Amino acid sequence: MTAKLARPLEPAPVYDLAPPAEDFLSDVVRGLTARNKTLPCKYFYDEIGSRLFDRICELPEYYPTRTELSILHRNASEMGELLGPRCLVIEYGSGSSNKTRVLLDHLKDPAAYVPVEIAREHLEESARLLRHDYPQLEVHAVCADFTRPLRLPRISRPAARRVVYFPGSTIGNFTPEEARRLLERSASLCGAGGAMILGVDLKKEPRVLEDAYNDREGVTAAFNLNLLARINRELGTRFDTEAFWHHALYDPREGRIEMHLVSRKDQQVALDGHRVSFVEGESICTEYSYKYSIGDLHELARLAGFTIERSWIDDRKYFSVHYLVVPERRDDSRR
Ligand code: AVI
Repeated sequence: MTAKLARPLEPAPVYDLAPPAEDFLSDVVRGLTARNKTLPCKYFYDEIGSRLFDRICELPEYYPTRTELSILHRNASEMGELLGPRCLVIEYGSGSSNKTRVLLDHLKDPAAYVPVEIAREHLEESARLLRHDYPQLEVHAVCADFTRPLRLPRISRPAARRVVYFPGSTIGNFTPEEARRLLERSASLCGAGGAMILGVDLKKEPRVLEDAYNDREGVTAAFNLNLLARINRELGTRFDTEAFWHHALYDPREGRIEMHLVSRKDQQVALDGHRVSFVEGESICTEYSYKYSIGDLHELARLAGFTIERSWIDDRKYFSVHYLVVPERRDDSRR
């Protein structure tokens, strides 16, 4: 029998709505010249950071990915039923689109799939693979920051409804106010009758949370430190990454994990005409990861104009996935 030649994968066209490179410089300057130094966590995901994040998702301590995937596998056919035929699926921060397949496999004749991702190489690669594995599916990859207003590409068939797919608990990386605004924009993007499938990490014992962000192999530390290495690569600074250490802790009052890069010594770094000074022990806050209760979530959804119609939670109550709907008649007494 002659071996069948594998079909070559076509290059994946990408709609480029990525923010200009100057935004990175101005965000870094703003964050590092502030009194309490910060860096936006969206900049973790360059090529190296995205690969490190994929490794985090496989770590024994990092339960969210595994737990969410098991919830999705167990309930995807019910999700497919709830979403109905011919929906247009828009995925925020699609990364390697691993969780997409679980949903796509249970959707009836989806009108199109629109992955929105800031990490271009990651987006191109996953769109290419999806086109290959789902030849009937229209895939429109959009390289963009999904926190900004989004223009959707034109699709070739009318969709019955728009659905925002936002797994991974990335909603936790926004402050509650930012999360509300993001959900509110999503509700407008979907329109009345539209829906959202949202993955959210839940509040739990602090030890479990802190272990998840302080893995023994040090992958999360490398992910955090890569942010300084990226700044060196792209902005020409000379941060000594060995002069900082990774620190992650849970703040129960705020209900969030905080990740920091802590300076091991007094030091100064030149940045675009500024001199950024650190004293020993001073930190740069690089990420918040908010954890929610089910009550918190209902309130957040309500304020944003959604109602939660169905929730799926694992047995340990570690993680949750929700089906949110924009009511046909919006409640205008939200605030
Ligand atoms: C992408 N996001 C939901 C992850 C989280 O858990 O907040 C990012 C992450 N940071 C450290 N580990 C994982």
